[in-house]
Amino acid sequence: MGSSLEATSFSFPEYALSWNGQRLPVVGLGTASDPVGGSYLLTKLAILEAIKLGYRHFDTASLYGTELPLGEAIIEAISIGLIKSRDELFITSKLWCTDAYGELVLPGLRRSLQYLKLEYLDLYLIHWPISLRKGIEGVSGDTEYLMFPMDFSSVWVAMEDCQRLGLTKSIGLSNFTCKKVADILAIAKIPPAVNQVEFNPLWKQKKLREFCHSNGILLSAYSPLGAIGTSWGSNRVLECQVLKEIAKAKGKTVAQVCLRWAYEQGVSIVVKSFNGERMKQNLEIFNWSLSEDELKKIDDIPQSRGCQAEDFISKDGPFKTLEELWDGEI
Ligand code: A2P
Repeated sequence: MGSSLEATSFSFPEYALSWNGQRLPVVGLGTASDPVGGSYLLTKLAILEAIKLGYRHFDTASLYGTELPLGEAIIEAISIGLIKSRDELFITSKLWCTDAYGELVLPGLRRSLQYLKLEYLDLYLIHWPISLRKGIEGVSGDTEYLMFPMDFSSVWVAMEDCQRLGLTKSIGLSNFTCKKVADILAIAKIPPAVNQVEFNPLWKQKKLREFCHSNGILLSAYSPLGAIGTSWGSNRVLECQVLKEIAKAKGKTVAQVCLRWAYEQGVSIVVKSFNGERMKQNLEIFNWSLSEDELKKIDDIPQSRGCQAEDFISKDGPFKTLEELWDGEI
């Protein structure tokens, strides 16, 4: 990573969230690592490097263990003059399933804010549509990994309260199917602004994307490169032959083709890299485009979900099969 403290004067496209016009930069930096937590110092340095390169959206979660280094990096970025204030950033975090109970949502958000040393989030998401045994931080051990159906009503009302209190500017969902988004919409006074889901050329989520967009909900892509290097991801996206051929013909990398494609689908992107060169490369997707022919080739790639989330399937839990968890969207 470079040592210059000079910030790149670079701004890139943003989406306006439909309910309040809040601006969300198209490309954000993901901070989930596997194993959860990763190295505190590496995470902090990577975030500082990203700010220097022009990243302004950072995605974290109570589960990831990266709220603390993100908060420290923000303080340092201000103190060394990379940014003038926290308001220049868009910070997303997520409610973990052990806090997915009406009365635990606000304390969960306050804890995240404490780790982040922030007064407010830009976006707070329900991480998964399931509740786990209360009172355990992070991922619990097998015996305690008890699962319950989430009470959408009480949890969403509490999410709305978080927004009304000014502790987050927007609220949203993650890993919600069409059916589950519709269930939330049916009870919401403040509709979700975003649904963050797995999204890449091998899992295009066409139905979900169209459903969300027709309801004013921005789809946000996690694992846009297939989350290579994690236990839930693989190299299947970056090694896809069709994508390799397109990348070669265009003089781009497969990663850039994936990210450009996601941008052309009108979704926001959360891409994780802690490597300075790759972070830079992942921003260079705005001054070129994919041809009709290339889009057609990508459209023809066979589809399958990469992140199945089998951990949430249990004979005693709310989802007994993957079919139930994903409402047939598999
Ligand atoms: P690294 O952090 O070493 O760059 P996803 O965003 O789909 O979750 O994928 C994240 C994974 O992809 C990380 O392992 C990251 O590794 C790797 N990655 C990120 N950007 C690139 C890139 N431009 N080329 C190749 N691998 C990349």
